[in-house]
Amino acid sequence: MTNRFDATPAGLLAGKVVFITGASRGIGAAAARLFAREGAAVVLAARGTDALNRVVAEVRAEGGVADAVTMDLADSASIRAAVDRVEQLHGRLDGAFNNGATGQSQPGPLDATSDEDIDEQFAVNFRAHWTAMTAEAALMRRTGGGAIVNTSSIGSRRANTALPAYGAMKRALNSITETAAVTWAPHGVRVNGITAGGTATEMMDAWEAATPGIVKQLTAAIPMGRMAEPREVAEAAAWLLSDRSSMVTGAIVPVDGGAGA
Ligand SMILES: NC(=O)c1ccc[n+]([C@@H]2O[C@H](COP(=O)([O-])OP(=O)(O)OC[C@H]3O[C@@H](n4cnc5c(N)ncnc54)[C@H](OP(=O)(O)O)[C@@H]3O)[C@@H](O)[C@H]2O)c1
Repeated sequence: MTNRFDATPAGLLAGKVVFITGASRGIGAAAARLFAREGAAVVLAARGTDALNRVVAEVRAEGGVADAVTMDLADSASIRAAVDRVEQLHGRLDGAFNNGATGQSQPGPLDATSDEDIDEQFAVNFRAHWTAMTAEAALMRRTGGGAIVNTSSIGSRRANTALPAYGAMKRALNSITETAAVTWAPHGVRVNGITAGGTATEMMDAWEAATPGIVKQLTAAIPMGRMAEPREVAEAAAWLLSDRSSMVTGAIVPVDGGAGA
């Protein structure tokens, strides 16, 4: 005799269509693998078509449903086209993980940060999320509601002398995350953010190359004593995108090993 506890649990995201930006590597690629394993059909977006296709092939090889769409976060029209592509593929959107971003190409100080760096940070790390959320929420509202998660950073929480433009745009992202949550709560769209701490990805490798010793310095400030693995950040996003977080909206959730505590 079986009881309900013997049944194989359905995946956390079973039956959902989830769009993921920055899915060609790092946290976004880990999210693609995890969300697909949890039952979602995933649509992966970034600029790097070859890298996206490799992640798509991995997910399909495991029996998952995945597609790629090439998109540049600096180009608003391409973001809207990517969300349109999701509708063409699946006719609906249940979850969006707005995770793609670029590191500051030249770390601080504040008074040495170039106009080009500020413009890029604004376009890719802030305006893109505004554009993406607006398109995603419009589609979600037509197809029964959904959930959005934006990847912010521990670097948004306080003064950020190392990455001043990046920190400012991530703090602005926290603001529109909260505003979007309140705006769309009556329409069945939840919106949350994650303030990731130091995570072992190419973005961190690039920062280490520009500022040798930064990984050791950041790790020393993490009470858990190590960087996050990309999958550990994706796990928090999976829960926030799932129906298991049905009363959570407007939250900015730290995933940082205690570094911000
Ligand atoms: N790693 C950390 O320690 C850390 C800490 C806090 C927060 N975060 C945040 O976590 C998120 C993921 O970062 P990650 O560490 O996984 O970085 P990553 O390994 O550098 O990956 C960044 C992703 O964003 C995409 N991307 C960058 N610029 C883009 C553009 N203009 N248009 C479209 N896609 C673009 C990249 O793909 P293409 O290059 O192929 O376009 C890639 O898929 C980001 O929001 C980052 O700010 C990371």
